[in-house]
Amino acid sequence: MAMIIGFLDIFIAFIFFLVFRCLLLYKQTHKFCPRTGQFLGCFRVCSSKSIVSTTVDPVNIHYILSSNFVNYPKGMEFKKIFEVIEDAIFNIDSGMWEDMRNSSHAIFSRQDFQSLWVSTSVSKINQGLVPILDNAVEKNILVDLQDVFQRFLFDTSTILMTGYDLKCLSIEMPKVDFGDAVDGVSDAIFYRHVKPACGSYNIEEFRPERWISASGRLKHEPSYKFLAFNAGPRTCLGKKLTFLQMKTVAVNIIQNYEIQVVEGHKTEPVPSVLLRMQHGLKVRVAKI
Ligand SMILES: *[C@@H]1O[C@H](CO)[C@@H](O)[C@H](O)[C@H]1NC(C)=O
Repeated sequence: MAMIIGFLDIFIAFIFFLVFRCLLLYKQTHKFCPRTGQFLGCFRVCSSKSIVSTTVDPVNIHYILSSNFVNYPKGMEFKKIFEVIEDAIFNIDSGMWEDMRNSSHAIFSRQDFQSLWVSTSVSKINQGLVPILDNAVEKNILVDLQDVFQRFLFDTSTILMTGYDLKCLSIEMPKVDFGDAVDGVSDAIFYRHVKPACGSYNIEEFRPERWISASGRLKHEPSYKFLAFNAGPRTCLGKKLTFLQMKTVAVNIIQNYEIQVVEGHKTEPVPSVLLRMQHGLKVRVAKI
């Protein structure tokens, strides 16, 4: 169970965690964020009629997720919204959360578990990813990398969780009912509970220099500035494993293929609790 819960954390790459629990200013009179002037805005959480404030200010995020973590439990409102995942680690607080976090951590940090994760990824690359890319090269067809990587993650996760390979990542690209259901559920949660009024900035631009320093080295930003894996005591337990898998896949692709995003392809985010692209990521593949 702990493992399934841990993988949910990996799956849910960018939950709008703050959006729901950031600051119920009206209820939490004893503690305020340091920069209350810099909240983005308010919107209604439909089920509760309560007003929720949102923030993107890293100082506030650090305060809420790290330095004052214990004052900001998820609470019952959050649990009601995400009832579909019941008592998953993502949805619980205090002792139950700590207990589950500790047991998941014990599994994730084991050397043999990490080795299994890598060997599972490598064999999925060889038996799933490479045939798809080779087929695309040979037949000169476009590939939706978002779909490919979702299937990759889905297969490798279910192998580790259940010991069974669903083989979603294959040239036939079979329909994945469970994957569709996860997308459907997360969209439904979003539309049912949030009337979005969130701000946005130039997130659509491809600007890798955001992550490169003036001297050309990789820029390390604190996790509260980049919430893909959350921050503070709730930092995603699968973060290390995810990076391990991403690097394994990236190295294999970069060494063997040239990938080019189809000209004019629009990468718009889907308004949902899972961050994904509206039209996938259509690319052309060539062999190096
Ligand atoms: C979880 O682990 C921490 C650090 O090892 C420990 O202090 C704490 O008592 C543990 N909590 C539970 C509920 O097991």
